[in-house]
Amino acid sequence: MYKQIFGKYTPKKENLIYILHEIQDQHPEHYISAEAIKIVAEYLSISESHIQGVLTFYTMFSTKPRGRNIIRLCESPPCFLKGSEDILRQLRQLLEVKIGETTADGIFTLELCACLGVCGNAPVMMINEDVYGDLTEAKVESIIASYRGGK
Ligand code: FES
Repeated sequence: MYKQIFGKYTPKKENLIYILHEIQDQHPEHYISAEAIKIVAEYLSISESHIQGVLTFYTMFSTKPRGRNIIRLCESPPCFLKGSEDILRQLRQLLEVKIGETTADGIFTLELCACLGVCGNAPVMMINEDVYGDLTEAKVESIIASYRGGK
């Protein structure tokens, strides 16, 4: 995986974020491992602590293993006003997790995020790269079921 990713980026510090994104996306558990930090630090000739700092600063990165599907529920005001709190309650119940946790079967990780840019369809959530808007309890239930069915 590293060879293929490094092939796309010259060993410059400016490429760090892109490289980390690709590593996280390609990892089956969607995270940046300690091994990955070491390998990237060597490739870019930067310190591991610099990478740790970047990983802490950007909330989209995780240094802990996550589920196969990352659910990001928008918590910005327009979605909040349209009931994102109820959707969050439902997701926590359906998945039996708290925010930031991964389901016991490893299928989902539940996270919150800021505006996804589609406020006209509030409340909104994203699962991996797919955006789901105008969420209702029925809609959420069927979306989750479709992923559990192996989407
Ligand atoms: S506020 Fe939720 S998508 Fe913009």
